[in-house]
Formats: sequence, C-alpha cells, structure tokens
Amino acid sequence: MENVKREFEEELKSVKNFEELKQLKAAYLGKKGKLTSLFKKLKGLSEGEKKEFGRKINELKEHFERLLEEKSKEIFEAIKRESIESEAIDITLPARGINFGSLHPITKTIMEIEDIFRSMGFGVEVGPEIELDLFNFELLNIPKEHPARDMQDTFYINDNVVLRTHTSPTQIRVMKRQKPPVMFISPGRVYRRDSDITHSPMFHQVEGLLVDKNIRFSDLKCILTGFLKLFFGDVKVRFRPSYFPFTEPSAEVDIGCIICGGKGCRVCSNTGFLEVLGCGMVHPNVLINGGYDPENYTGLAFGLGVERFAMLKYGIDNIKLFFENDLRFLEQFSYHKGRLL
Ligand code: DAH
Repeated sequence: MENVKREFEEELKSVKNFEELKQLKAAYLGKKGKLTSLFKKLKGLSEGEKKEFGRKINELKEHFERLLEEKSKEIFEAIKRESIESEAIDITLPARGINFGSLHPITKTIMEIEDIFRSMGFGVEVGPEIELDLFNFELLNIPKEHPARDMQDTFYINDNVVLRTHTSPTQIRVMKRQKPPVMFISPGRVYRRDSDITHSPMFHQVEGLLVDKNIRFSDLKCILTGFLKLFFGDVKVRFRPSYFPFTEPSAEVDIGCIICGGKGCRVCSNTGFLEVLGCGMVHPNVLINGGYDPENYTGLAFGLGVERFAMLKYGIDNIKLFFENDLRFLEQFSYHKGRLL
C-alpha cells in the first residue's frame, strides 16, 4: 500500500493535462487499477485484518481522489491563466487609424462650381437625364438637320426621347415654369456616343442661364471671367467668337494654358490657350420657346464640361480615371489626406 501511494504521488507530479490525469486515474482507480487490485488481497485475510486493511485502502482511495481533484483544479487554472494571457488586449496601444471616405472628385468639382455661382446669386436647378427630343434639340433652336442630332452623337430611346446630350434643355424647362427674371446654374449627367481619353459616353456639365431686363454681353464677360479666376486662380481669360444654335452672338472662352503657363505645349496644342466654356446671348427663338418676350427680356447662357474642369485643375490626363473607381486615384481627393480644394 505504501508503495502504491508513493508511486501514485510521484506520477501525479508529472501530470500536465487532463488527458494524462485521466490515464493516471484509470491506472490506479480503474477496474484493473493498482489500488483496485489491492482490494483483491482482502480475500486472503482474517476478519480482524480485513477490517483494518479495508479501512486503510478506502482511506488511500479517498486520498487519491482528493489529490486528483486538486490536480484537476490546478490544470484548469493553468489553462485559464494561459488563455487570459494569450488573449490579453493592451489598452495602452494607440488605436488603428480610421479610414475616411471622400467625395468623388467630380462631385467636389461640381460643389465648388456651385459655391462660386451661388455666391454671385445664382440658384441651382436640375433637369431629367431622359429628355424629350423637343427640349434637348427642337426648342433650343437646333433644327432637324443639325449635326448635333446625328445618330453618332445621340443615344435615342425612341423617336421622341433621348438621353440628354447636354444640360441646355434645363433652360427651356425652367423658363416654361418660371416667369423672368431667372438666374440659375444646372449641373448634371449628359450622354454622348463618344469614347477616348478625353471623352466618356457619360459625363457632367454645368449649364447657366440668366434672363432679365437689360442683360448684356458685358454681364456675360464679367460673370464668366470672375468665375474662371475664382476657380482656376489668376488665369488669362479670352472670349472667341463661335457658333451655337441657341445663342446669338455666341462665344467660346479660353483660359491661358495652366499646364505650360501660355508658352505652348501638347495639352494646348501649342496655342497657349485652353477652351473651357461655351456661351452667348440667348437666341430670341429660345426665349420665345421658353415663353418669354424677347422685346422685353434678354439673357445670357453658358455651358461647361465638369470633367474638363477637374482634369485641368488637378492635372489628370485620362477621363476614364474618374469612372474606374480605383481607390488609389480617389483617395488622393480625400480631405483627410489634406490635399483638396
Ligand atoms: N450645350 C453646349 C454643349 O453641350 C454648351 C453650351 C454652349 C451651353 C453655349 C450654353 C451655351 O448654354 O450658351 O456643347
């Protein structure tokens, strides 16, 4: 009995986990265990010895059970301690940075253009992207045979409905529902069958219309020059005669090339200037189509491409970058990275 006890206590010391503990328990207290087999020795003993021996074995059994129980608790505590240590969180470590989303560069450009015109007193109107042929062309004094109506440029939904090719139809929509004076810009998406590094089948324009009594070409020059200098900084601005069916007279507006500073480069085709706007005095036919009397009212109008403004301002050389949603591109316009506007 003493030997069994010593052996058991010795073996118990080296037990490291529940599996080993289970094996030890079986080796001593199981059916064929070392302690269990001692019970068999009872048979060959006298009554008096039996009692004494039986009591001692039972005591030893209880002793073993107590030691096993203690060991079991010990192992459990060790496992618990280990998992607490390994899963510990160091709350003194600095937190991981938060990733901020950012507005799309086209959205930011539109917002900046809006801010400038709002500061001059312009309102903001929107029109539908699916537009009647009537508003997109006819009422804007674009006759049936005009090249802009060519199938090449326009996405037709049916004979009377198109994806608007410009934001100009908003002029008609607003005039039809509002008496003069009107003074608004109208940003939005437009669609054309065109695709290369400077053209996308979907792009954005901002339209502008101001109709009131005594609106003159000098008002147009003042407003657009002011706007361009606020948007691009101190650039040269030049008005060039041009043609649009919905304005008379019409002009295109150039700014001094912001890539080469006017010296001449690939971007400005060595002219030193970049075309950025179309504009003019609203054609009397368009005023009439909007329900306004051209004898009493005159107006100025202009239209610009948002992507072109954004490309020039941020030095972007491919329009597709705006629509690929590559985060490496978009992240550069995050306020968070401290770069924009
Ligand atoms: N709608 C023209 C275009 O898409 C831009 C434009 C030119 C708008 C002259 C105007 C304007 O309002 O007066 O190319």
